[in-house]
Amino acid sequence: MKVLIVGSGGREHAIAASVAKSSHVDKIYCAPGNAGIGRIAECVPIGAMEFEQLTAFAKEKEIDFTIIGMDDPLAGGIVDEFEAAGLKVFGPRKNAAILEGSKAFSKDLMKKYGIPTAAYETFDDPKKALAYLETAGMPIVLKADGLALGKGVLICNTLEEAKAGVKEIMEDKKFGSAGNHMVVEEFMTGREVSVLSFVDGKTIRILSSAQDHKRAKDGDQGLNTGGMGTFSPSPFYTEEVDAFCKEHIYQKTVDAMAAEGREYKGVIFFGLMLTKDGPKVLEYNARFGDPEAQVVLPRMKNDIIDVMEACVDGTLSEIPLEFEDNAAVCVVLASDGYPVAYEKGFEITGEENFEGKDGYYCFHAGTKPGENGRVVTSGGRVLGITAKGRDLKEARANAYAATEWVSFANKYMRHDIGKAIDEA
Ligand code: AMP
Ligand code: GLY
Repeated sequence: MKVLIVGSGGREHAIAASVAKSSHVDKIYCAPGNAGIGRIAECVPIGAMEFEQLTAFAKEKEIDFTIIGMDDPLAGGIVDEFEAAGLKVFGPRKNAAILEGSKAFSKDLMKKYGIPTAAYETFDDPKKALAYLETAGMPIVLKADGLALGKGVLICNTLEEAKAGVKEIMEDKKFGSAGNHMVVEEFMTGREVSVLSFVDGKTIRILSSAQDHKRAKDGDQGLNTGGMGTFSPSPFYTEEVDAFCKEHIYQKTVDAMAAEGREYKGVIFFGLMLTKDGPKVLEYNARFGDPEAQVVLPRMKNDIIDVMEACVDGTLSEIPLEFEDNAAVCVVLASDGYPVAYEKGFEITGEENFEGKDGYYCFHAGTKPGENGRVVTSGGRVLGITAKGRDLKEARANAYAATEWVSFANKYMRHDIGKAIDEA
């Protein structure tokens, strides 16, 4: 069959690598893709938000199955467009992708259905938000309602910071129209865990857990980024935590969406915080995590197309997921200066060192083909170096060793990805 993947990051490279292993697939396209994806798929220069061109392309090439990797097209209704064109597509429809697309929606859903999450209030008037903050305890968390590239969250330690945050989000519109509404949330403490799942409208199947490192600098310092590295599984995601989440969070979320007339098919990513009062939902995403996918998918034994088709067909209950009994660590190689300002266009060398090395992956994020078959940097997060190991410590040592195999000017990485492993 012919598969089209929509997106261009490390997550989509990891998806493409899994799809390439499927026994059902003989041709992969990716729109728009990147230099690494271009080695296993044919990249087509259509943007992820160009729905008309994408559906026309899928029809022309007789694509059998399309996988949407990114959040923006999902929230924008790409799945509805593909379905209307009679095309088979993996991902939630617009009315379900709102689970990620609106924080106010997801908070109200959790409150209505008793799913554990931080206490909160929502505002569409900055004056009311400011008045509320005068009475609230600090620290406090401000969240722009809509999609903001994962950056619309401000953690404020003082009332002054919180007031400045309301101005940034609601008045200066730093995150654009995402700031028309705002959620003000109780500050929670605890370890974070990312849990990805496949959902077919009724049944939910949980993937092996992971942990991200969102801050730019070692020791969780610096600005929030899309994610600087991950490990899987999380040793903090114990059987007890799993049992709690199965009872109080996962199935309840799927059933809540169905009860609201928003049947959910695709991936739900549960951003959890393990607080002293038990696991709570920090956020939902409507797609795989990036770089969580880069450590979770390489450990999945199932044929990914079997699982994704079952989500679309509503037959996921027939498919148990299986994971390798090992661990994986991904270290992101970024352009120095990310997430603020950085240079692009530098040649990447040394990738041949990955050839024939089982359990090592050089996933591309911000890369593009340069001249004469070269590959050059084209984004903040450039590569995701993933390695497996028998356990987390071995995987981490392998991943850091492999970060030395590739070079490019201004290469930057965190040196403490997976440090928490030592505390487990
Ligand atoms: P989100 O985009 O909602 O995942 O938020 C980004 C990051 O902000 C999370 O990964 C947490 O580290 C932090 N965060 C979000 N909400 C809270 C909260 N209620 N309490 C503490 N930290 C939070
Ligand atoms: N790594 C976090 C995310 O994909 O949202």
